[in-house]
Amino acid sequence: MFSLWLTCCLPWGTILLVLGEPAGGSQLSPENTVVWGPGLRADVVLPARYFYIQSVDAEGKRFTVSPGENAFQVKITAPEEQFTRVGVQTLDRKDGSFIVRYRMYASYKSLKIEVQTKDKHVAKSPYILKGPVYHENCDCPQEDGSAWLEEMSCPQVIPQIQRDLAQFPAVDPDKIAKEIPQRFGQRQSLCHYTIKDNKVYIKTHGEHVGFRIFMDAILLSLTRKVKMPDVEFFVNLGDWPLEKKKSSQNIHPIFSWCGSTDSKDIVMPTYDLTDSVLETMGRVSLDMMSVQANTGPPWEEKNITAIWRGRDSRKERLELVKISRKFPEIIDAAFTNFFFFQHDESLYGPIVKHISFFDFFKYKYQINIDGTVAAYRLPYLLAGNSVVLKQDSIYYEHFYNELEPWKHYIPFKNDLSDLLEKLQWAKDHDEEAKNIAKAGQEFARNNLMGDHIFCYYFKLFQDYATRQVNEPKIREGMEKVEQPSDDLFPCNCHRKKVKEEL
Ligand SMILES: *[C@@H]1O[C@H](CO)[C@@H](O)[C@H](O)[C@H]1NC(C)=O
Repeated sequence: MFSLWLTCCLPWGTILLVLGEPAGGSQLSPENTVVWGPGLRADVVLPARYFYIQSVDAEGKRFTVSPGENAFQVKITAPEEQFTRVGVQTLDRKDGSFIVRYRMYASYKSLKIEVQTKDKHVAKSPYILKGPVYHENCDCPQEDGSAWLEEMSCPQVIPQIQRDLAQFPAVDPDKIAKEIPQRFGQRQSLCHYTIKDNKVYIKTHGEHVGFRIFMDAILLSLTRKVKMPDVEFFVNLGDWPLEKKKSSQNIHPIFSWCGSTDSKDIVMPTYDLTDSVLETMGRVSLDMMSVQANTGPPWEEKNITAIWRGRDSRKERLELVKISRKFPEIIDAAFTNFFFFQHDESLYGPIVKHISFFDFFKYKYQINIDGTVAAYRLPYLLAGNSVVLKQDSIYYEHFYNELEPWKHYIPFKNDLSDLLEKLQWAKDHDEEAKNIAKAGQEFARNNLMGDHIFCYYFKLFQDYATRQVNEPKIREGMEKVEQPSDDLFPCNCHRKKVKEEL
């Protein structure tokens, strides 16, 4: 998947090589500047659409530092309408490139996107998106799944999906509908979903099922965009993967937000990442785009004390704070909350106030250490321009297996015994550490944006559906999960209209 992304989604990757050395203090060229991305295409419906601007000077050299936060003005309008209900933000990545993102609150026949610098149009601006251009809440699924995959530029193959599903060559919906609740239903927080005729049905098992809202939300969002295959599956809402490798021959497919090397759960993007995609420019402020505009000072100016904040959810975290208290000039690690262990202040110090996530990037070295399972902050940490030191762990999110130690992050042992040594290595090899930070950032930019997350979910359920040996059914006790009805600006789905006229 990951190399495919590079070729399919960054058509200008090749241009960069031609453009050559970075520019400094030179004149921004509206003609040479490059504008690209999914947000320039009408049919890529995302909660927050986005595209990129790469500033280039008159000699064709691309900027590697910001040409100024307000270098570009972006205006988005619906030509046929009096008002365009759209929120627009231009995010300066401080490396010469920008993300422009916009969230539409209504659908339009077409959209006009103007990108200007000092009253001059940039690249091929104005961009006209011939519609209909649907907003996130518009229920208008593309009937043809493979056409949708193409519109979204989804990768052909996602290795993690292949690995996970290889363990389940055949799935019998009738059988799992009976057996999974028997094995896991009482003790765990489980959701039994059936998608039939692109409608979502659910039955919950266990007491604590509040987190179903994230799964409901992504499934509803997907079914508004594309016709999902008929599919029946179980989602584990708890932290820990359920289907242990050691268990009997008769293993069951369970979808989880966190995978582990000692289980057979099928991993999905975490609820945290999923929610941040759905709520970008809405309820959440930390997402894969906002983080790119808040990566702190340039590498050379970052504080060289390593940073960590978090809860006491694992004993290695206690160890980390102990090391920090012994070597405060090397590591600044402290708890923002004590819950799981006895709080011995003489060992672990006082509880400290939260620091804003973006403030982490004032520091050059980021420590990533498991909580109850994988620490779901890793996507955001990678997207900054600090280097991540990651604890070896059995737990992983959907993308970890595509990351390479020493390329995208610096690994350290699960028991932290070599953490100080690895930090010293990073200080002694500043150029290498900087490159690792860059590669991690590049990975996050190319693999963890909203469109990638939608691709992952759809391809996962599409592939899983082909393994079903029986029809998925709406089971007894299931209820329909309704689309949100509170939309102020309902849309006219052209695909549905055609049907009515027939
Ligand atoms: C770097 O961070 C540490 C720990 O937060 C702090 O004590 C120190 O003063 C900072 N150094 C500089 C140069 O700001």
